[in-house]
Amino acid sequence: MNAPLPVDVLKQHLIDPEICIRCNTCEETCPVDAITHDSANYVVDPDICNGCMACVPPCPTGSIDNWRLVVRAEAYSVQEQLGWEELPGEKSLPAQAAPESTQAESAAPDPAAFAEPPAAAMPAGASVPPWSAAHPYVNLYTHKTPMTATVVGNYRVTGTDTESDIHHIVLDFGELPFPVLEGQSIGILPPGEDAQGRPHHARQYSLASPRDGERAGYNNLSLTVKRVTQDYGGAAAHGVCSNYLCDLAKNDTVRVIGPFGHTFLMPNHPRANLIMICTGTGSAPMRAMTERSRRRIGTGEVGRLMLFFGARTERELPYFGPLMKLPRDFIDINLALSREAGQPKRYVQDLIRERAPAVRELLADRNTCIYVCGLKGMEVGVLDALREVMVQAGEDWSILHDVLRREGRLHFETY
Ligand code: A2P
Repeated sequence: MNAPLPVDVLKQHLIDPEICIRCNTCEETCPVDAITHDSANYVVDPDICNGCMACVPPCPTGSIDNWRLVVRAEAYSVQEQLGWEELPGEKSLPAQAAPESTQAESAAPDPAAFAEPPAAAMPAGASVPPWSAAHPYVNLYTHKTPMTATVVGNYRVTGTDTESDIHHIVLDFGELPFPVLEGQSIGILPPGEDAQGRPHHARQYSLASPRDGERAGYNNLSLTVKRVTQDYGGAAAHGVCSNYLCDLAKNDTVRVIGPFGHTFLMPNHPRANLIMICTGTGSAPMRAMTERSRRRIGTGEVGRLMLFFGARTERELPYFGPLMKLPRDFIDINLALSREAGQPKRYVQDLIRERAPAVRELLADRNTCIYVCGLKGMEVGVLDALREVMVQAGEDWSILHDVLRREGRLHFETY
């Protein structure tokens, strides 16, 4: 009767606060609401998390993929995790709690064992990149080792008489490497502290420039940043990082971390087609992909590009001028304006329906990838429109949707 009592061990799911960029993707993805956050950290509730892994592939930094073996009764609580500035090391377990005799496997199976999350947790978009995407670098520069970039340009790209103050900001990295791909993002560390006296955490911005630089051959990149003056409910709110960035002057320096993102990447094989659907600053990755393709016109390798771009008015649509100068045989541009005087209100999903035959033709081609970036609300609208376009022609959307997801050909980045 003196055998040691079995110890209940948990393979506890944790988020690394040093790498997490607080993008909220994990909290949105978690099918059981195990992830929560405060103004400092994103954390996982050990009493709720069932280790389903749905949150792991969408995380742009990999900060979500951290696990510690702990005695279940001593699991790190949500409160403890909210106070962390870094992950704790591995704890030593009591001798009678050898991992193979524990519940670790049933609590949180080996991440590598999961090709994709369970069907109930299936996100709308793919969690893998297109097969031919170039290999991305991620997390080269972190909160502890940020890179310093110099501002070499900061221009407003919306009409000065409009409420939408959107800036095109060019950052130069000098001699140091900062390799990126279209569709990736970076984090900006704004100076100063939050209300609790802690340094501001990083804010994430998608690149608006292609892999070879805002200016081809230069070690620079660009961002599309909207000055935040209101919250989603319309109440006055001061966006810490967006205001900092929009007010930067030439030669100012900025602390940058990243790059981030390993799935929202463009195909790299010849004659791949892109359907790009965006609103407002969601145009950043579309600009990057379009510019990458434009620089390759003449190689005979550029497929078809179709763009659906939503904004309130022409003057509030970032990059309107340069966009309209692109050759029409290179990109099929569809602008959905919602508040243009004298015109009916239109959203991107309305235009997808209007262009059903062309959309269908592209969807029928296995070389087509779809990218959606912008307001959260458009996600459902776009999915409904794509479904309708297929159903009208007697096609089964759910089968195609699964194929698009599995093949990394349908990507969402909404906020
Ligand atoms: P709206 O005029 O109804 O706000 P914003 O300028 O706020 O970033 O928005 C960009 C564009 O996206 C606007 O035209 C806006 O229209 C539109 N929009 C708002 N909600 C949705 C939605 N659920 N689906 C598609 N577009 C939307």
